[in-house]
Amino acid sequence: MRVNPTFSIRDVPVYGDVILAPMAGYADVPHRALCRSFGSAMNYTEFVAAEELLGKKRTGPAWQLLDFTPEDRPMVFQIFGNDAGLILQAAQRIEELGPDIIDINMGCSTHKVSGRGAGVAMMRNPALVAKTMRLLTDNLSVPVTAKIRSGWEGNENYLEIGRILQDNGCAAIAIHPRTKEQKYGGSADWDAIAALKQTVNIPVIGNGDITSAADIDRMLDQTGCDAVMIGRGAIGNPWLFARRELTSDTQHELVTTILEHATAMNAYYGERGTILFRKYLKQYFRHTAIEPEHLSRLIQAKTGAERDLLLRQLLPEQTSHAFFTLSLP
Ligand SMILES: Cc1cc2nc3c(=O)[nH]c(=O)nc-3n(C[C@H](O)[C@H](O)[C@H](O)COP(=O)(O)O)c2cc1C
Repeated sequence: MRVNPTFSIRDVPVYGDVILAPMAGYADVPHRALCRSFGSAMNYTEFVAAEELLGKKRTGPAWQLLDFTPEDRPMVFQIFGNDAGLILQAAQRIEELGPDIIDINMGCSTHKVSGRGAGVAMMRNPALVAKTMRLLTDNLSVPVTAKIRSGWEGNENYLEIGRILQDNGCAAIAIHPRTKEQKYGGSADWDAIAALKQTVNIPVIGNGDITSAADIDRMLDQTGCDAVMIGRGAIGNPWLFARRELTSDTQHELVTTILEHATAMNAYYGERGTILFRKYLKQYFRHTAIEPEHLSRLIQAKTGAERDLLLRQLLPEQTSHAFFTLSLP
């Protein structure tokens, strides 16, 4: 029986210290279920625009992104916007679907989002951060959290924003310590995670540049954060959540896991899942010496059945010679 949570987000216990990051295009039900099975302690949806949740209809692409299963819990719905009142309206609607937590994206650096004052641009507007967090925490039953960056070039105000968030009832902060201008360039400044942890009393989730099990423990040790969040490094490497590294002996496990994920994609999306799975295939094989021609055939497969046949040929017991030698880090 799991008695002691690793930490709690207000009254939501979290068991574990490694969490799959919210990622547009990579945070759907099948991928979250896979990462969960390896140990992701909490799951986020990708960000959804508040405005897209306000129409009369409660169906459509934006609502589809909020689909989840009981296994996802604690389930975090992430939304974004530039107007506190509209963000609240959207949050009140989606709260009815039963998430455990609602998170506000204050970190997206793309022009489409930050150019209209949402995402990381909220950090430039501390009054909007305060107003949004206060409105949400006063009017929602579930805990409200935020995901931030370190700020803008020349104004890395994450400590000020952290205090404002906490003072207005925010229940946890995830930080990706890069500036808006850095986008994904350079390296994440883990010292900023440590500084934020020293500044606030609510849980801090550190994020940025985790690619190995050793990185996970290094970030926890260096920053004192409550949990680490993994984005790009987890795509094609769910073993990270179990703090495991694949070795050349685990070709069977690699292939069966890919097959499992691929099957789940087609079960969830129908044949569209075949196309949607292509981006994962590249990532799963990124550290292997798979024959480029075989990988091309896999990626170009027109149906799930064709793809799975090609995948099964990579099982060590299906072939007398190794199709590829793993060269994982
Ligand atoms: C393809 C992609 C989509 C992303 N979508 C989101 C998103 O919807 N919401 C969000 O808060 N961050 C999003 N991010 C940022 C990640 O959550 C994370 O902060 C960033 O990738 C840094 O972590 P990493 O170095 O582990 O990848 C996205 C990142 C990538 C690469």
